[in-house]
Amino acid sequence: MTRTNTIERLKDRKNAVILAHNYQRPEIQDIADFVGDSLGLSQKASKTDADVIVFCGVDFMAETAAILNPDKKVLIPDLGAICPMAQQLTTEELLEAKRKYPNADVVLYINTLAEDKAHADCICTSANAAQIVESMDSDLILFGPDDNLAHYVRQRTNKKIISIPEYGLCPTHHQITGADLSDARKRHPEAKLVVHPECTPEIQEVADHIASTSGMVRYCKASAGKEFLIGTEVGLLHRLKKEIPGKRFYPLSKYAVCPHMKMHTLEKVERALETEEPEVTVRKGVADKAREAMGRMLELSR
Ligand code: 13P
Ligand code: SF4
Repeated sequence: MTRTNTIERLKDRKNAVILAHNYQRPEIQDIADFVGDSLGLSQKASKTDADVIVFCGVDFMAETAAILNPDKKVLIPDLGAICPMAQQLTTEELLEAKRKYPNADVVLYINTLAEDKAHADCICTSANAAQIVESMDSDLILFGPDDNLAHYVRQRTNKKIISIPEYGLCPTHHQITGADLSDARKRHPEAKLVVHPECTPEIQEVADHIASTSGMVRYCKASAGKEFLIGTEVGLLHRLKKEIPGKRFYPLSKYAVCPHMKMHTLEKVERALETEEPEVTVRKGVADKAREAMGRMLELSR
């Protein structure tokens, strides 16, 4: 029996669902029940009737699924799959900023740990960041941890946004430079430039379209363009090529690889289903508060 068949059988036996982020290895995307961006994955996790969720993504994504499903078992195939950006905002720094700006609303990117989410007024993803910030009551917003996403939101709202920490960033996106763009444009002069808002302002400002990973897929499908330079983690190329076979996609940088997203393998998925470990749990008091901030986002994004 192939590994894929074994995984299918285990899934049936345990009433499990496999959720995978758009950056996962192709073979993981291909066996997943749902592949999507952080917003789509949260929406799926909030609605599933499975007993077990195998989350092929990074730590904050699996934590989010656990927050939304206190009575289900959430498994992550490799516990080492952490998001370095989510580690950049410490709870101490967040609480200090809240003390300094008591009238500000706190909007945290979903790329944060549960302890921080518990202190937020609302969570956002790259798909809804500007809309969420705009809908807050206060004109002053504490926003973190991605300062590049903060730049994107500043361009699209009238709010005053203070980044916490001052220079948080995603190492995978931040390393995509103007030199990468010049090289790619020489090779593919007709291609449209579609990028993620975790890219630097320099890249954002010349893009044809900026969106979350699933938003990038939707744009490429709907666009009249036939060729696209893709400014995000290279895992998205698999989904783009599979779902839009008539168009051409090129990575803006072939080095834009998130090593943490790539830690999950089919072997580890099989082992997780078999042993029901490693499990991701969030302490009740923290989960209850974080769920309120998540719930507000899901309500605003219906
Ligand atoms: P999306 O929500 O757009 O998929 O982004 C998640 C992420 O971690 C980007 O680096
Ligand atoms: Fe975190 Fe960046 Fe990896 Fe996304 S691509 S999981 S933001 S390190």
